[in-house]
Amino acid sequence: MFAESKLLFKLWLKNPLKIGAVAVSSPELASAMARQIPVGDGYVVELGGGTGPVTRAILAAGTPPDRLVVVERDPTLHRLLC
Ligand SMILES: C[S@@+](CC[C@H](N)C(=O)[O-])C[C@H]1O[C@@H](n2cnc3c(N)ncnc32)[C@H](O)[C@@H]1O
Repeated sequence: MFAESKLLFKLWLKNPLKIGAVAVSSPELASAMARQIPVGDGYVVELGGGTGPVTRAILAAGTPPDRLVVVERDPTLHRLLC
């Protein structure tokens, strides 16, 4: 978590408007967000995966990996998520 926070902060320093947040979501916040996703057969699209805390929470809440689409425009964070 510390390494991820450090990476996001570093990227934010380079380009604050594109990264948008100075800190990663906590596991508690990510889990609270993921719990709002209705259970069903549809796809879940996460816009701005960052370092992946919400991605992990969405998967932990039961969305199958093949039903989750994560969009991330920063190449460093995109590689981290793959
Ligand atoms: C505020 S961070 C949140 C990261 C993570 N979801 C979290 O909660 O810790 C926003 C992320 O969205 C990405 N982002 C912002 N605008 C985007 C866009 N239009 N398309 C894809 N990713 C975008 C940024 O690169 C950054 O990684």
